[in-house]
Formats: sequence, C-alpha cells, structure tokens
Amino acid sequence: MPFYIRVGKVPPKRHITFYKPDGKSLYREELFGTKGFSGIYSNKYHLYMPPQVENIRELNFVGAEDWEDAPLQYYHFMTENKQTDGNFFTSRNEFLKNDHCIISTANVTEDTDIFFRNSHMHEIVFVHHGTGEFMSEYGSLPFEEWDYIVVPKGTTYHMKFNSFEKVKLFIIESDTPFDIPTHYRNEYGQLKEDAPYYERDFHVPQFTEPIDQKGSFRLILKVRGRYYEYELPHHPFDVVGWDGYLYPYTFNIKEYAPKVGKIHLPPPIHLVFTTQHFVVCNFVPRLFDFHPQSIPAPYYHSNVDSDEVLYYVYGDFMSRTGVQEGSITLHPMGIPHGPQPGKTEASIGKKETDEYAVMIDTFTPLRLTKNVNETMVEDYHHSWLEK
Ligand SMILES: [Fe+2]
Repeated sequence: MPFYIRVGKVPPKRHITFYKPDGKSLYREELFGTKGFSGIYSNKYHLYMPPQVENIRELNFVGAEDWEDAPLQYYHFMTENKQTDGNFFTSRNEFLKNDHCIISTANVTEDTDIFFRNSHMHEIVFVHHGTGEFMSEYGSLPFEEWDYIVVPKGTTYHMKFNSFEKVKLFIIESDTPFDIPTHYRNEYGQLKEDAPYYERDFHVPQFTEPIDQKGSFRLILKVRGRYYEYELPHHPFDVVGWDGYLYPYTFNIKEYAPKVGKIHLPPPIHLVFTTQHFVVCNFVPRLFDFHPQSIPAPYYHSNVDSDEVLYYVYGDFMSRTGVQEGSITLHPMGIPHGPQPGKTEASIGKKETDEYAVMIDTFTPLRLTKNVNETMVEDYHHSWLEK
C-alpha cells in the first residue's frame, strides 16, 4: 500500500450503478478493507458475485509440529536441508512461529491450478531463487530474485514460475499488516528524502483482462492453522478494474539504500517493514563506519525484548562463521549474542561488506517446530567458546 492506484475500468464514483456492456446487468462491487471500515482499502469490480461458492470442505493438512521442549539457546539451522516437493503452497515448511508471526521456507518443485488465500495472516514472500508471475485479482505482478512480494491478508493469488530448476522462497506471515515505517513518510504519506527507498522502487500489479470462465475452481483458504478447500463456480480473477491503497506489491532488496555511520549503527537503521508485533530489517552491501578506530562488527548485545531471526541470502556474513545461503540463526531474548571469536578483530579496518540477509525481530517469543530440530547445527551454541 505505498500509494493510491487505479487499474482497469472503474465507475466515476463509488457505490453507484456500473453496468456491463449489455446495459442491464451490473458489475459487482467489493470493498476490500481493513480495520473495520476505517483502515486502508480498495474497491474491486467483479463480473460475478464474490461470495459464490459450490462446496466447502476442511482439508486434512496441518503445519509443522512444535518442538515442545526446545531449550532456550542459540540456534543455527539450514533450511536447505528440509525440502518438501510441492507447489507454491504445499511445499512450505514452517520453522518458527508465535501468534503473530510464522516463518517458513519453500523449495517449490511443481506447478498447480489451485488458488490460495491466507485469510488469517498477511504475507511477505521473499523470492530467494526463482522468477515468475504473481497473479491475483489485482492483476499481474512479475517477480524476480530477491523481490519481497508483500501480500495483504485475504488476497486470492497464484504463483507461476518460469522454471523449477531452483525455486526457494522465504515466507514471513504476520497477523497485522506489513507497513512502511511512519518515520520514513512525511505528513502526507509520501516517502521522505531520507527514507531508504522511494515510490519508484515499489512495483504494483499490472492490469490483466478479467477471466470470464465458469466451471470448477479450487481455492485453498488458510485460517488459524486450519485449511479449507472452496470450490468456486467461476474463475476468481474476474475483476474488470479496481482502485485504492490495498494491494500486493514488490520491492527488491537490491533497491534498498542503506545508511552508514561514523561508528556502528544498530539494526533499526536497516528497517524495511514494521508490524505491530515484529519488524523486518535487511542487511545489504554497504560501506563500513568511518571513525579511524571504528569496529565494524556489532558489539555484544542482549535483546531482552526481542527474539532475533536472520535469514542469510548471499555473501560472507561478517559476524558469523559457518552460515551459508538459506541458513537461519535464532538468537532468543534473555541471552546475549554478538560476533564469534576472531570476528570482531577481523572486522577492524575493513571498508565494506557484500552481504545480503533478512532479519526479523519479534516482540514476543517464537516457538520452534520440529523442522528446526531436524536441520540444526548441533554445536552452534558452543561456537563462542574461545579455544
Ligand atoms: Fe543482534
């Protein structure tokens, strides 16, 4: 929702007659809104009535089981070691979760004709590997490697990939919207001069002709960890036009313009999106601090109010040993963390870094799933011991 857009055909005012070319039958208006009727919203104009459904059934499909007795300690696990063949939805594996946030990865291996709607959580789908098209009732949103695809809760979508040679997604779900931080915006909502991105960096859905098809279309709905299959009598992408502020969009991590300080700046300087219960930051290539005695590696710190999750995308991460692409580290609240032995000293005098990583700091503790147990590096919590 970076700004207002209008796509396709919409009537001159809201909530008035809007006839199809036959002059007799109406397009069906749907207000797609948030916070009751007080938050951001869009108005979509459908060929068919949006509530139409032939059959509803609950699916015998559950997310990953919790690892109930996981100790409070540092974790490093390799998401590449847990791959489940399937489409953009069935290939997902959950690793970390609480009531406000679910963190998963997916190595997608096949196409599908299903449509998916997460009716419980907003999503960010970070495309680590793969290219394709994110199709929704809002139109087409082409995506490429390292795009964040921001998907509002309740969006009906489908992901098409150009190839399945290597497709890897990192998925963050949130019960509250992914917002652009207010301190990046001026009083009119426009991105400020000192924001790390600009409106031109956000890509919005392109208009596609409505699909006027009757038949049987399968829609999977996710609600609070339960899944339902809705059999729809018409194609869900039947929108002739829409306008508003609520829609999916993409932003590529390479477009993020990082800030550099005289001495080490803390992670909030790398903020990308906020939610009410966690933040998303990213680390991208940047020059290091320029005080003659600066230490580029972070100091040891105790996040007494945050669990800190890092997903490693690319490069040689300056403060960690042993991590690889697709690794996740979890440094939970209550215990201090920081660079491993030798990393602080090795960073002194370095001028720049060439790393990409996505960080999630949650304000309530995360539960671990059994997928963490299956993929973890056993002795990571000992990796600070000096030998
Ligand atoms: Fe940290």
